[in-house]
Amino acid sequence: QMNERESMFLVSKFAKDYFHEILLENEQGKAIGLSYFKERGFREDTIKKFDLGYCLDEWDAFTKEALAKGYDLKYLDKTGLTIVREGQDGRGGKQFDRFKGRVMFPIHSMSGRILGFGGRTLSSDKKTAKYVNSPESDIYHKSKILYGIYHAKKEIAKQDNCFLVEGYTDVISFHQSGIENVVASSGTALTPDQIRLVNRLTKNITVLFDGDAAGVRASIRGIDLILEQGMNVKVVAFPEGEDPDSFAKKHSDAELRDYLENSAQDFINFKVSLLMQDAKNDPVKKAGLIRDIVTSISKIPDSIQREVYVQECSRIMDISERVLFSELAQLISKNT
Ligand code: CTP
Ligand code: MN
Ligand code: MN
Ligand code: MN
Ligand code: MN
Repeated sequence: QMNERESMFLVSKFAKDYFHEILLENEQGKAIGLSYFKERGFREDTIKKFDLGYCLDEWDAFTKEALAKGYDLKYLDKTGLTIVREGQDGRGGKQFDRFKGRVMFPIHSMSGRILGFGGRTLSSDKKTAKYVNSPESDIYHKSKILYGIYHAKKEIAKQDNCFLVEGYTDVISFHQSGIENVVASSGTALTPDQIRLVNRLTKNITVLFDGDAAGVRASIRGIDLILEQGMNVKVVAFPEGEDPDSFAKKHSDAELRDYLENSAQDFINFKVSLLMQDAKNDPVKKAGLIRDIVTSISKIPDSIQREVYVQECSRIMDISERVLFSELAQLISKNT
């Protein structure tokens, strides 16, 4: 007898294949979903590589098909592919497709199994959620997976570096531009479990967040968590209003590579230049900034590495190493 998780994997795989086929073969799928991806500049080989799909704009087209193929409503419900509304007295119950009318991004596990989906609306109506994602379930834990890890793992190990972006489309665009060592946090705050996935493959992460206030805030939060795992962090900032996807679409593959190489900053330089902007002539703020950076350094498990960073920080900020070390010693004694 198969266990429940196994049944959930099976129905998720069925859904992935179904949505993909609708995108490529169905009239509505082609006219709406495929055109959307093509307008965004995604090539057919890229669409196939990531098993992108489309969920018909009908209440229950997918659910009906799955039931007809013998999949159990219980697992359609448990994976969240189908939303089941109980009727009263056993009557009037309704079931409908969670992803109705959306283009589909299947989320693969490290070994390539389908765990869940992200579905993007095609409407520009601000009232519609841009993305709807699979709910947490026995097989999908948003905080434990990184989008793209299955397609990136080989290249992360080979390049000994991992680019970390925010969104599904950032990952896909990079592949299309020839950069395959890239994963996405999918818009949530990075978690230690997600960093551990990468840590198994490389000690180097380059954080690439959207060129907006939210992106910068997210990258700052992520940095300390990465440092805590003894990994090295670099940061690439994007121009205001651009994200890795839009940037990649506007530039050639070579230009993108150059940009990533030339604008990658060590986290210290990144934090200093960012925070210096509003701390410049304000001693109180500057003191706060120094504490902030020393706090980041205190997360680094390796003492030699900490020392190197203190020297770097002292040089950039024109503060004596002695002061920084004493601040650091206090923080470390508090941490342990
Ligand atoms: N996200 C989400 N739900 C939302 C908005 C965003 O789950 N309502 C997640 C998605 O994984 C998305 C990521 O956060 O890919 C980054 O969000 P955003 O930058 O707003 O979207 P993009 O990935 O840039 O998507 P697009 O280019 O299609 O607008
Ligand atoms: Mn495929
Ligand atoms: Mn964003
Ligand atoms: Mn974005
Ligand atoms: Mn985008």
